[in-house]
Amino acid sequence: MKLGVNIDHIAVLREARRIADPDPLDALSIVKRSGADQITIHLREDRRHIHDNDAENIVRLSALPVNLECSTAKEIIDIVSRLKPHRATIVPEKREEVTTEGGLAVTGTQTALKKAIEQLHNAQIEVSLFIDPSLQSIEAAAELGAEWIEFHTGKYANIYAMLYSNLRDTPYNIPQLDLPRATLKKMLHDELKMLRCLSVDAAKMGLRVAAGHGLNYHNVKEIVEIETIEELNIGQCIIARSIYTGLEQAILDMRALMLR
Ligand code: PXP
Repeated sequence: MKLGVNIDHIAVLREARRIADPDPLDALSIVKRSGADQITIHLREDRRHIHDNDAENIVRLSALPVNLECSTAKEIIDIVSRLKPHRATIVPEKREEVTTEGGLAVTGTQTALKKAIEQLHNAQIEVSLFIDPSLQSIEAAAELGAEWIEFHTGKYANIYAMLYSNLRDTPYNIPQLDLPRATLKKMLHDELKMLRCLSVDAAKMGLRVAAGHGLNYHNVKEIVEIETIEELNIGQCIIARSIYTGLEQAILDMRALMLR
């Protein structure tokens, strides 16, 4: 199973002070040395963390493939097409959200998606669609000609946190639910089963399957068991741990959990 390390969170810290430090570019060699497989970054329309020059330098200088997350906005797709990262992952974007709160509504935005995918393919960039786990979205992704899908694992991570830790660990705000443990266990079991079945369906349709969002050193183990998921993109928990252990050790710790 491959690991993409999402280094946006380094830029989040930099932007808290709007200075030059820490520079996400400095992470490239460490991520490579620690045995990760991919650099993932998100060039948001509002440029709240990764800036154009970060994206440009990261794509130019990374020895690992770069997975550049982006919306379908024309300005952004033009930049991505020019930079030519290895892969573009199209994600939904809302200005007011703290982080990407769900997958793409693939059927609803097909025209914009179609245009974006076409432009990216013309620039020889493989395309992934960040979707909520549903059969309808997978079928639409296959129809649109995407090479990859990435399942948004936020719901899984939320249920896991409600069951085993606390709501501060949930990747984004959810209503405070006072559910019995047995119900949460069933919800977790069902969510995992759905991710497993849908990743098999996707693979049968010729799609390659990644997953990410809210995964951490606790909840990743069950996801690793799903053989048809080829790759995980993980950011927040790795960068958080790196404050105490250093980035290399934080990635090595995650790699160790991902050995099947
Ligand atoms: N994959 C995608 C498409 C994302 O947007 C994000 C969040 O930036 C991640 C993976 C990583 O999520 P996290 O930072 O919660 O590990």
